[in-house]
Amino acid sequence: MSEATTKNIVEEVSNRRTFAIISHPDAGKTTLTEKLLLYGNAIHMAGSVRARRNQKNAVSDWMKMERERGISITSTVLQFPYKGRTVNLLDTPGHQDFSEDTYRTLMAADCAVMVLDAAKGVEAQTRKLFDVCRQRGIPVFTFINKMDRPALDVLELLDELEKVLGMQPVPMNYPIGDGDTFMGVYDRATEDVYLFDRTVRNQTIAPETMTTLDDPRIEQTLNAHQFDDMHTNIALIDELAQYDEEAFLAGEQTPVYFGSALTNFGVQLFLDDFVEMAPEPAAYESDAGEVDPDGAPFSGFIFKIQANMDPNHRDSVAYMRIVSGRFERNMQVKHPRTGKMLKLSRPYSFFADERKVVDEAFAGDIIGLPGNKLYTIGDTLSASGSFNFAPIPRFASEHFGRLINLDMGKAKNFNKGVDQLETEGAMQVLYDADAMRRDPILAVVGVLQFEVVKARLEDEYNIKTKLEMLPQRLARWVIGPDELVEKLPWRMGVLRVEDNEGRLVALFNSIHELNYYANKYPEIAFRDSI
Ligand code: G4P
Repeated sequence: MSEATTKNIVEEVSNRRTFAIISHPDAGKTTLTEKLLLYGNAIHMAGSVRARRNQKNAVSDWMKMERERGISITSTVLQFPYKGRTVNLLDTPGHQDFSEDTYRTLMAADCAVMVLDAAKGVEAQTRKLFDVCRQRGIPVFTFINKMDRPALDVLELLDELEKVLGMQPVPMNYPIGDGDTFMGVYDRATEDVYLFDRTVRNQTIAPETMTTLDDPRIEQTLNAHQFDDMHTNIALIDELAQYDEEAFLAGEQTPVYFGSALTNFGVQLFLDDFVEMAPEPAAYESDAGEVDPDGAPFSGFIFKIQANMDPNHRDSVAYMRIVSGRFERNMQVKHPRTGKMLKLSRPYSFFADERKVVDEAFAGDIIGLPGNKLYTIGDTLSASGSFNFAPIPRFASEHFGRLINLDMGKAKNFNKGVDQLETEGAMQVLYDADAMRRDPILAVVGVLQFEVVKARLEDEYNIKTKLEMLPQRLARWVIGPDELVEKLPWRMGVLRVEDNEGRLVALFNSIHELNYYANKYPEIAFRDSI
C-alpha cells in the first residue's frame, strides 16, 4: 500500500463516529434520530424519517405489524457528515420485547447514546440495553429528553443514573427550567447559557440566543424555588462531577445532556460535543489477534441479515461493519467460513433513509451487501488472510413455542421460510428429540419475535402457522460423557431437544430446576451458549 493511501485510511478512520441510540420505548429515540439528521443537514424537515418509514411500510407487508403497533422492529443504519466527521447511526429496535437483533447491533457500534425520559428516569428496557453496552465495554452518553414537560428533579435523575447503572453521571450542561418554563441549557464548560425558541411544528432548527446565568429573563421565567435550586445545584455539581475522558472511555462515567428532542432544544450542543468526544472505530478481537481499524487491509463482519424487505424484489441484505482498512466496490474478499472468494459488487450505504451504491468505505462504516444467501450472522470477510472475528455472543432465549404448519401441502416453503428466518437470526430453532413429528420449536429472547416470525412466514412464504407456547424458560446445551448423558432422567417437565446440528439441549422451567440438575449431575455441563 502506498504511503498516501495509508495516510488516507488513517485520516478517514479517525473521522468515523459509529454509534447506536438505546432507550425505553417512547423516551424519544426516533425523535432524537430525526433531529440529529436535521442538525446534520441530512434531512431538511424533521418528520421525514417517520414519514418515510410509513411509506416504506406501505410497500413492505410484514412491517404492517410495526405500523399498527407504532413500534420499530427493524434496525436501520444512517450515515451523515457533521463538522468534518462521518457519523454512522445504527438504529436499534426500541420496543419492549426485542430480539437478539438489538444486541447484535450494539456489537457493531463503538459507543451508545442512552435516551431517558426526564419524567421517568431509567426504565426497564434501558437497563437491559445498558447491560449489553457494559458487557461490550463501550462508552455511553446520556441524553435526558422531554425537558419541555414536567421533569423529575435533576439531582434525583443523576442519583438514579449512578445507583441503577453504576456509572458516575457528569452533567455537561444544566437545564434552565422544565415543562412550561424550560428555556434552554447552561453549558458548564463555557458557562454560557443557550436559550432557544420554538419553531413552527418543531420542524426546523431552533433559533438560539447565547447569554449568561444572570440574564434577567431567567429569573423572570423561573419561579423562586426553581431559580435557587438551579444555582445551588450547579455549584454542587461543579464540586462533585468533572468530566474525565479516560473514565468516559472506560465506561465509568457518562456525560449527561439535557434537552428536548421534540422542540430541538439542546440537540445541537449535544451533537457538537458528541462528534468530538465519541471514540474512533475500535479494534476487534479475532482468532489471529486484535485487528486494528487503520492498520490492516480491509476486513469486516456481518452483524445483521434482513430478507424480503420489499416483496417485489425479494432481496436479502447482509449488513457488514467494516473493522479495518478501506473497502472498495468490486473488491475480491475471502469468506473464511466457506473458503470462497467473493466479489462485492453491489454494496450499499445508507444516507438518511435512502440506499445508495457505495464505491468506497472505511473502518467504522456499515454497508449493506444485497443478494447473497451465503452469509450468516457473525461471518468474517477480509481482503487478506483467513482469520475470523470473535463470534457474536448469542443471548439465552427465554421463550419457546412449537411452530405448527397449518398447510402440510406447503412443507417445502415452510422449511425454506424457517431456514431463512433462522439465518437472519430472527429466532433459534430446536427440535423435540422425543416427538414423532419434527415441528420446529422456536426459541426467542422476546415474545414479540414469535409474532414477527409468524407474520413474515405468512406474508413472504404464504404459510399459515400456529404457535403452541411451551412453559419452559431456559435452554442449556448438555455436555458430558455419553454414558452419563444417556442416563440423565428427563423429569419434572424438562424437555429434551436438539439444535439444528443435532446437539442435545435441555429446556428447563426455572432456574431452580436447572440448579437441581447441575448439583445432582456435576460431571455434566449445562451451558447457556456453545
Ligand atoms: P421512541 O422512538 O423512543 O419510541 O420515541 P419517539 O421518538 O417515537 O417518541 C415517543 C413520543 O414522545 C412521541 O409522541 C414524541 O413526539 C414524543 N417526544 C419525543 N421527544 C419529546 C420531547 O422532547 N418532548 C415531548 N414533549 N415529547 C417528545 P407521540 O404522541 O407518541 O407520537 P407523535 O404523534 O408525536 O409522532
